[in-house]
Formats: sequence, C-alpha cells, structure tokens
Amino acid sequence: MKKPQYLILVCNSYRVAGDAQGACNKKGATSLLQYIAEEASDRGLDVVVTTTACLNVCSQGPVVVVQPNNFWYGGVTGEDVIDEILDALENDECCEKYSIAD
Ligand code: FES
Repeated sequence: MKKPQYLILVCNSYRVAGDAQGACNKKGATSLLQYIAEEASDRGLDVVVTTTACLNVCSQGPVVVVQPNNFWYGGVTGEDVIDEILDALENDECCEKYSIAD
C-alpha cells in the first residue's frame, strides 16, 4: 500500500469503556471530520482523516493532531479554523495560531 503523506487525527473522546463522552466530542469534533477530508482533498493534500480516543488535553479541545509532523492543535471549533490549519499544511508548516504544543 501507499502511505498517505499526512494522518490527521481528530479527538472524539473515546474511552476505553463506554461511549464517547469527553470534551472534544461534546464540542462538536465529529462534525469536523467530513469537512477536513473534503477540504484536504480539494486542496490536493494526501491525507487520511480519522478519530481517536481522548488525547489527554481535554481543556484545549476540540483537539486535532497532524502526523508525521506532530502538530497539535486546540480550539478547532469550526471550518474557519480548519481552513487556517490546512493553509499552513499546504506549505508543510504548523499553524501557530492554534498550536498547543512546543
Ligand atoms: S476528549 Fe479530546 S483531548 Fe480529551
């Protein structure tokens, strides 16, 4: 198989036992998935978008991580934020405005 250039992880608050119930899920992270996938595709970015269990930075959610770059974003609340993150990713750069990691 051909590996994608980027893996975009969207926290959806899954717990080891039970349903998704954490901060990112409650703040609407699930609704971002389709937009990220479609917008990345429209831009010609080679990405796979998937969801995750809690990433342990709930207070900064919704949280999105881009690998292999290890870009961690918080406050990803809507399409306008995604657009800025993807703008930076088109240049293989971190969008510092929403970065929550050093
Ligand atoms: S629920 Fe997303 S970081 Fe914890």
